[in-house]
Amino acid sequence: MRVRLQKALSQAGVASRRAAEKLIAEGRVSVNGATVREMGTKADPAADDIRVDGRRIKAAERLRYILLNKPAGVVTTRSDPQRRPTVIDLLAGVREYVYPVGRLDYDTEGLLLLTNDGDLAAALTHPRHGVERTYEARVAGMPDHEALERLRKGIPLDGKRTLPAQVVLLAKGPAKAGHYVREKRDSVLLITIREGRNRQVRRMLEAVGHPVDKLKRVKIGPLSDRMLKRGEWRDLKADEVRALKKAAELGTRNPEPGTIRVRRAGASPRATSAR
Ligand code: URA
Repeated sequence: MRVRLQKALSQAGVASRRAAEKLIAEGRVSVNGATVREMGTKADPAADDIRVDGRRIKAAERLRYILLNKPAGVVTTRSDPQRRPTVIDLLAGVREYVYPVGRLDYDTEGLLLLTNDGDLAAALTHPRHGVERTYEARVAGMPDHEALERLRKGIPLDGKRTLPAQVVLLAKGPAKAGHYVREKRDSVLLITIREGRNRQVRRMLEAVGHPVDKLKRVKIGPLSDRMLKRGEWRDLKADEVRALKKAAELGTRNPEPGTIRVRRAGASPRATSAR
C-alpha cells in the first residue's frame, strides 16, 4: 500500500514523522534510486526501494489475522514439495507472510486461522492454553451412548489418553433438519477438543468404531463463521482478534491488529507503533 514517505519512514522505525520530514527536506531520502524532496510523495514500503543515506529501510509488515474456510483437497502448508494446492494459494491479494496456525488434514475442511503474529500463533498452539476447536464429523453408523461416553472421557492414542471432549450427536441415521446425512446409517457429531494431536478426531472416532466420512472444523476458540463460503477468506475484526488473544491468554499485552512490526535481521519481529 502506498503511504506518504514520512509515514513509511516512521513506521519502519527510522525516525519520528517530524524527523522524517527533515530527512526528506535535506535530500537524504531516495525512492527507487531517485532523491525525493517533495513532502507529499507516496511510496509502497513493501514494493519500493526506500533508502535513507543510501541504506535501505526494512519493510514494515502489518499484522494480519485471516480466517479461511479451507476446502478438502488443499494442504495446510506454505509450500508443498508434491505441488498440491496449498492454503496460501487461496489467499489472493495477501502480501504479508502469513502462515497457518495448526493444521487441518488434506481431507478436512473448515476454519483455519493464518497470521503473521508469531506471539498469537505460538500461544494458540501451546498445549497449556487448550484453546477449544469444534469439528462437525459425519461418521459411519450410529454411535451409541457408550461410544459417546468413551469419546467424552478420552481415548488412548499412542499410549496417551486424549483430554476430555465435548460430544453432541446432531443427527443419527436419516437426515434431520439442517444436517445432511448421506447414508441412512451415517450420523453427524459435534466434537470439541483442546489438543491438536495428529489426525486426532479421525483416530478417536475410528477407535470407537465409527470412522469419519467427512470432517469440518466449525469453531476455533471464539471464532466461527457459517457464512464464509468454502475456499473464501476474510480478515478478522478487531473484536475477534481481542477475543482470540483472550482465549489464548495473551490478554492485552499483545498489540492490536494494524500494528506495524519491523523485521530486523537476526531478531524476532518487534512491535513499533500502532495505527
Ligand atoms: N482432527 C483430525 O482428525 N483432522 C483434522 O484435520 C483436525 C483434527
